[in-house]
Amino acid sequence: MESLTLRASPSSTASPLLRLPGRRRAASVRVSASGAGAGAGEPDLSVTVNGLKMPNPFVIGSGPPGTNYTVMKRAFDEGWGGVIAKTVSLDAGKVINVTPRYARLRADPNGSTKSPIIGWQNIELISDRPLETMLNEFKQLKKEYPDRILIGSIMEEYNKAAWHELIERVEESGVINFSCPHGMPERKMGAAVGQDCALLEEVSGWINEKATVPVWSKMTPNITDITQPSRIALKSGSEGIAAINTIMSVMGIDLKTLRPEPCVEGYSTPGGYSARAVHPIALAKVMQIARLIKEEFPEGGRSLSAIGGVETGNDAAEFILLGADTVQVCTGVMMHGYGLVKKLCTELQDFMRMHDFSSIEDFRGASLPYFTTHTDLVQRQKEAIKQRKAIRMGLQSDKDWTGDGFVKETESMVSN
Ligand SMILES: Cc1cc2nc3c(=O)[nH]c(=O)nc-3n(C[C@H](O)[C@H](O)[C@H](O)COP(=O)(O)O)c2cc1C
Repeated sequence: MESLTLRASPSSTASPLLRLPGRRRAASVRVSASGAGAGAGEPDLSVTVNGLKMPNPFVIGSGPPGTNYTVMKRAFDEGWGGVIAKTVSLDAGKVINVTPRYARLRADPNGSTKSPIIGWQNIELISDRPLETMLNEFKQLKKEYPDRILIGSIMEEYNKAAWHELIERVEESGVINFSCPHGMPERKMGAAVGQDCALLEEVSGWINEKATVPVWSKMTPNITDITQPSRIALKSGSEGIAAINTIMSVMGIDLKTLRPEPCVEGYSTPGGYSARAVHPIALAKVMQIARLIKEEFPEGGRSLSAIGGVETGNDAAEFILLGADTVQVCTGVMMHGYGLVKKLCTELQDFMRMHDFSSIEDFRGASLPYFTTHTDLVQRQKEAIKQRKAIRMGLQSDKDWTGDGFVKETESMVSN
């Protein structure tokens, strides 16, 4: 699916919600520390973001892993910190999916099925299930898991009344956050909004004037400068940014049939790229947004939910080191299952132990100050070379060896 702008909102917690002036409140819900990452005496994985307390920072990203009651329940049971449901709209009747709708890229250039999957393309649309059904399932999940974080993901056409109706109905179901994607450009629903700052400002204004729960806006990476829509979303009142949605891609061409993939009745359409291959791109976008939040919204209360190619605790650590509050996983769950959260928590704790970090806040954003401009890199390197030369040890040339100082001169050139 082409990317959407997503807004997520804070979730529940026993502690008061962080609120922007004159803004929404989330329902007060306690999150138990059950599930992965809650062991005593271990590095503490719990996070509080926009007032939502989660046992760990791992959130199911909007997509197939949050598409119905059964799978969302499974995510809670396995210990995910939160779940963002598959994106819903008012009229699911307009959403017609095709099959096949996924295509995979393997590390082996010849595509050997034994080699790891590194890229995933989908041409899937938002949820094709009736809104009423999804809302009933949200209500049921909120009843069964009153202290867990369930985030609704919403998308509508370019129509204020429709957005307002959708927000009202989804809020009634008890979700505590919105993730607002923008997809389906042909219906002015997706990239059409996420890539057009004027449209985004208008739609974001509609959403934020209506929503009473916190909102995270999900950013498409299919834009030259991701800080522009991020700035607009935050200025219109969104409490957080989620990034990235999928990257526009054509997965490949079948060299026998000459048809593009995934191939539906002989034809295809560009889709959204995800999984490990997009992780470096997501890191760059998340870094840019983290800097924006730090520099232009220093008053605090704005959150960042990082998404893109997470399959290990180290992938998550990288996002958190750049300033992410939470880390979403979508394709990783499709490839490895819901139990992946346990591995993610263990690996993230291993990383924390290695550095003696006892909480996520101990290292959140720690790597951000080390990004600079290329011009500055050149200057720093010049300076470093100058200093190294000044203190350079060892002999410059074989003619410099002396008889008296021979042993010391030898020592000066040994590395250990
Ligand atoms: C099959 C599939 C369906 C998706 N559907 C949605 C969606 O309905 N709404 C949304 O906001 N993002 C959707 N996404 C995007 C993901 O939430 C996520 O932003 C993207 O895949 C990158 O993360 P990942 O590498 O962990 O998958 C979908 C992704 C995939 C792979």
